[in-house]
Amino acid sequence: MTGHDQLDIESQTEGSDDRTIHQLFGADTLAERVDELASAIRAEMGDDFVVVGILTGSFIFVADLIRAFDRAGARPQVEFMRLASYGLGTESSGDVQVLGNLPKNLGGKRVLLVDDIQDTGRTLAVAVRLIADAGASDIKTCALLDKPERRAVYFEADFVGFRIPDVFVVGYGIDFAEGYRHLPYIGHLS
Ligand code: IMP
Ligand code: MG
Repeated sequence: MTGHDQLDIESQTEGSDDRTIHQLFGADTLAERVDELASAIRAEMGDDFVVVGILTGSFIFVADLIRAFDRAGARPQVEFMRLASYGLGTESSGDVQVLGNLPKNLGGKRVLLVDDIQDTGRTLAVAVRLIADAGASDIKTCALLDKPERRAVYFEADFVGFRIPDVFVVGYGIDFAEGYRHLPYIGHLS
C-alpha cells in the first residue's frame, strides 16, 4: 500500500496494561513500501552513499531499508547517531539533544539521513545541520512516517513512507516510554 490516508484498523491489546493498539500498517505493507522507497532513493542517490540512522526509533527501518537497497543494487555504508527529543512522554520536548558520538569520516560523502517519524520536523532539521557540519557533500532525508499537521519548523523530508494523521504510533522500532518497539507492525496506541 502506498496510499497515505487509508488506514486498516485492527485492534489488539498488548501486554498487561490496558492500552489498545489499532494496527495501521502490517508487516507486509511495511515491507512493500520499504522496497519502493529503496528504489526511489537509489534512483536519486545512486549506488554509493552513507545511511545515517537516527537512534533509537529508526533501527528496524534502517535494517530493512539497507537490505532493500541491496536488492535495488545500492551498496550503502551504515552509521547511526543518537538524538532524543521526546523523553518518556507522548509530547515532544521541543529540544533536540545529541546523545553519544556523531558518525565520523563523512567528509565529501553523500548521506541519507533516516528517521522513523517526521513530527515537528526538529529532529531531522537538527540532524541535517550536524551532518552538514561533519562535511557531507550532499544530504537527503527519509522518514518512514510523516505527520504533516504537527510541523513546527520549516522542514520536509525528501522521502516519506506514509503520511499519517496526528496520532501516537508504536511498533517497528517506534516506542512509547521504551516499550512496544518489538511489534512487527505499526499501530496507533490508545
Ligand atoms: P520531531 O523532532 O518532532 O520531528 O520528532 C521526531 C521524533 O519524535 C521521532 O524520531 C520519534 O522518535 C518521536 N515521535 C514522534 N511521533 C511519535 C509517535 O507517534 N510515537 C513515538 N515516537 C514519536
Ligand atoms: Mg526518534
